[in-house]
Amino acid sequence: MTDTNEYIAAIDQGTTSSRCLIFDRDGRVVSVAQQEHEQFFPKPGWVEHDAAEIWTNVQEVIAGALAEARIAKSQVKAIGITNQRETTMLWDKATGEPVHHAIVWQDTRTDALARELGRDAGMDRFRRETGLPLSSYFAGPKVRWLLDNVEGLKERAERGELLFGTMDSWVIWNLTGGTDGGVHVTDVTNASRTLLMDLRTQRWDERLCEAIGVPSSVLPEIRSSAEVYGHAKGGALEGVPVASALGDQQAALFGQTCFAVGEGKSTYGTGTFLLMNTGTEAINSYAGLITTMAYRIGDQPPVYALEGSIAITGALVQWMRDQLGVIKTAPEIEDLAKSVDDNGGAYFVPAFSGLFAPHWRADARGVLAGLTRYVTKGHIARAVLEATAWQTKEIVDAMKKDSGTELTTLKVDGGMTANDLLMQTISDVLDVPVVRPEVAETTSLGAAYAAGLAVGFWSDIEDLRANWRKDAEWSPDMDPAERDKEYKYWRKAVDRTMGWLDDED
Ligand SMILES: Nc1ncnc2c1ncn2[C@@H]1O[C@H](COP(=O)(O)OP(=O)(O)OP(=O)(O)O)[C@@H](O)[C@H]1O
Ligand SMILES: [Mg+2]
Repeated sequence: MTDTNEYIAAIDQGTTSSRCLIFDRDGRVVSVAQQEHEQFFPKPGWVEHDAAEIWTNVQEVIAGALAEARIAKSQVKAIGITNQRETTMLWDKATGEPVHHAIVWQDTRTDALARELGRDAGMDRFRRETGLPLSSYFAGPKVRWLLDNVEGLKERAERGELLFGTMDSWVIWNLTGGTDGGVHVTDVTNASRTLLMDLRTQRWDERLCEAIGVPSSVLPEIRSSAEVYGHAKGGALEGVPVASALGDQQAALFGQTCFAVGEGKSTYGTGTFLLMNTGTEAINSYAGLITTMAYRIGDQPPVYALEGSIAITGALVQWMRDQLGVIKTAPEIEDLAKSVDDNGGAYFVPAFSGLFAPHWRADARGVLAGLTRYVTKGHIARAVLEATAWQTKEIVDAMKKDSGTELTTLKVDGGMTANDLLMQTISDVLDVPVVRPEVAETTSLGAAYAAGLAVGFWSDIEDLRANWRKDAEWSPDMDPAERDKEYKYWRKAVDRTMGWLDDED
């Protein structure tokens, strides 16, 4: 028997904050430490992070979570990493300094580049190899943008002085020693978001790298999602194996124990991401979803997923709070929405970064439609929450088309699932029950699970399944005619977002 006072640490390097959570063998949260980092919006559509600030925060939250749990590093058997996906950075190998702010996944500066790359063949030019449409969303073109636009970077990359990474690579490199022998790796899930990796071989594809303009000298080594990459060097967890990396949405799929074909989840955070496990087969999407790596455990065969990605859901609530000042905290959106009975005819399509799945329209921008003098901020709060529900329905409908399977329940997680009215609205518009597990921090849990599997802390996925416990459930309660009418208006509002930007913009 192993000691019951043993734990796994998960680092969740997210879009708005970095967290460290300590989990016990039952998958329960023992402690949490969290720190937000600054969001930079230098131009309309641009979003940046300071990766040096993020690394400082990661070190602090690790120390904070250990202190709160009152455990010693010797009780931590492995560290798992999960991260905001696609957010792209380059750093100097010799100094460990980022050479520029990281370009965040929501950033639209590579729209024109993506269009140019699709010039003759269209946005699906690389879909067969990568599972992805050409879009500003993915990492590869962001690297190219940095090399083209930041003075001297191209030459430094050619001289082999720079390293590229998404946040998983940055955190692992620093954790394992940085300039003092840090390992430069990424996992299959993060690599599958670059437009540079072949989905079937899980290797960088030279033709893709050349077409997109990313020199292979900057690329990390692609590894499994669950294996020991190295050991922490220095810091509060010195000597502990670093044993997993998963993009946040794949980590949530793992944390929700969606290990069987057809099992899926939807995570409601900054954006919303619905992933469904499709097993060892990569299924091409014809309905506007993407094909992505779900996870790879050690040297087992890789597992794939279909994904519906929505850029803006919780971010719209943040926008109401930070940019408009209509609410002071995110949960207040629910009180405001409950101050009225319906949306008063208002529909809000938050196409702030264009529209992702299933539309993939870079030329779309946000609209607030159906306004009359009757509309109050309460109605707009309703429209804000309904936007998340209708965007989910668009994805669920696409999933049905691509996979041929009907959704029977929706497993949910993420910060927005604290919103009872929203969860009820999602159940109403999908017409299926919505269930939330006890551990809503499934992203961190998934990273912990993968790391724990890699070091034998848990023996197999059945161990993990046994840890899934239901916390809350919402059942549909909406008149079908009403649902159809509302969906029709939602779609009209979506139509009005399209074509807002012209080519020359
Ligand atoms: N009660 C609530 N009602 C509506 N939205 C909420 C509520 N509480 C939090 N949110 C929204 O949820 C988001 C935070 O959730 P979460 O921490 O899961 O996000 P995330 O995308 O995982 O962020 P990160 O990438 O930093 O991890 C924020 O956008 C916030 O506006
Ligand atoms: Mg998150």
